[in-house]
Amino acid sequence: MRLTSIFGMLGLANATTLLLPLYIWPGPGNPQNWASVFSALASYPTVSFTIIVNPDSGPGSSPGPDSDYAPALARLNSYQNARVIGYVHTSYGSQSASALNANVTHWQNWNNYAQTAGNQNTTISGIFFDETSTANSKVTYMNNAAAFAKSTLKPSGGATPYVVYNPGTSERQSYFNSNVNLIVQFEDTLANYDTDNPAAGIPPSEVSQTAFIGNTASGKASDVTKNVKSAKAQGFGGIYFSADCCYDSDLSLVSTVAAALV
Ligand SMILES: *[C@@H]1O[C@H](CO)[C@@H](O)[C@H](O)[C@H]1NC(C)=O
Ligand SMILES: *[C@@H]1O[C@H](CO)[C@@H](O)[C@H](O)[C@H]1NC(C)=O
Repeated sequence: MRLTSIFGMLGLANATTLLLPLYIWPGPGNPQNWASVFSALASYPTVSFTIIVNPDSGPGSSPGPDSDYAPALARLNSYQNARVIGYVHTSYGSQSASALNANVTHWQNWNNYAQTAGNQNTTISGIFFDETSTANSKVTYMNNAAAFAKSTLKPSGGATPYVVYNPGTSERQSYFNSNVNLIVQFEDTLANYDTDNPAAGIPPSEVSQTAFIGNTASGKASDVTKNVKSAKAQGFGGIYFSADCCYDSDLSLVSTVAAALV
């Protein structure tokens, strides 16, 4: 069954997705470092999760997932409300188009691995382009990168690949088109989110394609809940607040954010 139709059946097609940068190593064999993600997926089955995996500022050097990642990805992919996407950084538009395409192709190799290895579903269902530009001169470059991702990735199950850009700040309107599912228009600390109120300035036409990622939110669960509920009520496309600064050590707010998206 196509992933899109599963999301549709669950009524998740237009819901605010929990956009989780999961840069923590899953742990050896038994992927215990991701345990709180698995439990949030199970506890909040009506919440859509879009999970960014990033072993090494990209897919790493081996042709497919290693013995730590393969079972961990299979576990994520076993939840109907999980969509796993791979990390590619554009370095604010300074990476060559061929370098971006090479890593998208590398992520597609993980899909080939899923199909040939038989028993482990290591499917990658989209790409998170990090550090994207806001320059007018890079619109075509990103259009091409997104189109390449859409046509190259072949997730198991036949879902249309899901594409996210992360400029981390207000993006110009010309970057929005049907090849990009979400654009992260804020990435900064929770304190700055509260001060700046980023949701306020977004034009209505961009709302459903806009996501926000806050960080450094440890100990601020009630602020996180308030901000997540507000973004969901306004129809924004995705949101997450991480307890740590850099998405590589602390998953303690995953269930807080998921609960606020129910
Ligand atoms: C591609 O992936 C490699 C390995 O993870 C990483 O070192 C490199 O920085 C990535 N390059 C781009 C353009 O994403
Ligand atoms: C692998 O996981 C994806 C994403 O959850 C799903 O759509 C697909 O059907 C799964 N493939 C198999 C062979 O189970």
